[in-house]
Amino acid sequence: MSKLDAVLAHVDAHLDESIARLEALVAIPSISTDPAYDGEVRRAAEVLAEEVRLLGFTARVADTIGHPVVVGHDLSAEGKPHVLFYGHYDVQPVDPVSLWHTDPFKMEIQKRADGDTVLIGRGTSDDKGQLLTFLEACRAYRAVNGALPCKVSLFFEGEEESGSKSLPEFLPRTREEFAGADVVLVCDTDMWDATTPQIVTTLRGLVGEEIEITCASHDLHSGMFGNAARNPIQVLAEIIATLRNPDGSVAVAGFYDDVKELPDAIKAQWQSLGYDEAGFMAGAGLTTPAGEKGRSVLEQTRARPTCEINGITGGYTGDGFKTVIPAKASAKISFRLVADMDPAKIRKAFRAHVEARLPPDAKVTFKEHGGSPAVATPSDGPFVAKASAALADEWGKAPALMGSGGSIPVTGDFKRVLGLDTLLIGFAHDDDRVHSPNEKYNLSSFHKGIRSWVRILDKLAE
Ligand code: BES
Ligand code: MN
Ligand code: MN
Repeated sequence: MSKLDAVLAHVDAHLDESIARLEALVAIPSISTDPAYDGEVRRAAEVLAEEVRLLGFTARVADTIGHPVVVGHDLSAEGKPHVLFYGHYDVQPVDPVSLWHTDPFKMEIQKRADGDTVLIGRGTSDDKGQLLTFLEACRAYRAVNGALPCKVSLFFEGEEESGSKSLPEFLPRTREEFAGADVVLVCDTDMWDATTPQIVTTLRGLVGEEIEITCASHDLHSGMFGNAARNPIQVLAEIIATLRNPDGSVAVAGFYDDVKELPDAIKAQWQSLGYDEAGFMAGAGLTTPAGEKGRSVLEQTRARPTCEINGITGGYTGDGFKTVIPAKASAKISFRLVADMDPAKIRKAFRAHVEARLPPDAKVTFKEHGGSPAVATPSDGPFVAKASAALADEWGKAPALMGSGGSIPVTGDFKRVLGLDTLLIGFAHDDDRVHSPNEKYNLSSFHKGIRSWVRILDKLAE
């Protein structure tokens, strides 16, 4: 048996223990956006740091101005490439918790009717399960060979799901520590489909904004004041309704100024992929693509900017009925950006759009929730070539090289602050229900994900 095969066999033989470690990590409710869980976020960092130390890394939990990060190193592979692996150990809130069929923090293993086995729980897919695929690969490699094939540094973040706000301040402090790294590896993205791996070559940027509209100085009786008093929910709804044109495009002035059309060659290539649009929509219980007319779903979700309303609050929403004109209403709105769009410019244009539409007595305040530009990662070069070959060995077909619709703000910072390119390789499926109740990760993603990293590390060391 070759050395590589021995490591892969070790992965297979010890899969149950890998699953148990994921279960333990999922059990920590590390919800980064809700301050009530700050202690749990830190606990997850400490558990991970300890786990990594047991794996032979030096590791520390480092404070930032927000949630802590875990930094680790095993640089014993003299003369070999140096990879920096990034993952996030924080998770999204679990609300509405009543829609979960299982306890979100008690991982369950279910065999589905279609024959797939899935691991259900918050963070199984995004990103605890994916993060562990890499660590478990290191574990197996070390168990069999006594050492890792490459120099490996680790960087685990606890704030990705709330916009990585502390990293622009923290990352420059790691310049010396990560100086020798050749490339960043990230496991926080999807596969092309259930059997085809994918290397993601672009991520969209993000601008998060919260707006609050206030009118009267206090809540009013809607019979006494109705008609005469400006209603902030009405104002908010009218403003929100102006954010899109009837053709589905975003109506903020200048929004598309810096947006380039996809090159015809790429459009043609995407057209040739036979992407199952209807299947993608059906997986979400939908039939008819909304958004910009005349553009494919693939293009809309991966290569066009968007504006989405993520939450809206105001007035009485409790049981029964209350005849009130509330004093305020608010909404959380996000914009996804593509290459060359400037987050600051988009934020400014959005704010101007809102301010220009305020009727008398309505006031607005804005709160910023992060901003990051789109990122492009290399689609050629030695690292992509080696990772592609390793993925092809594991999955029996070459990976798709594709843009993705999501955002991972830190990838841009890796380039700007540390000068490092990122390789985005993930094993999630688009029906994993990330950010949603009943999140799952396929056991095949977890298992073959671990095996994939073993092969990638092995190949990079050649
Ligand atoms: N893992 C996702 C990003 C992602 C999703 C990449 C799907 C590729 C495909 C990540 O955890 C995430 O959710 N990011 C947030 C960032 C935001 C809070 C700044 C996102 O995209 O909404
Ligand atoms: Mn993620
Ligand atoms: Mn996420």
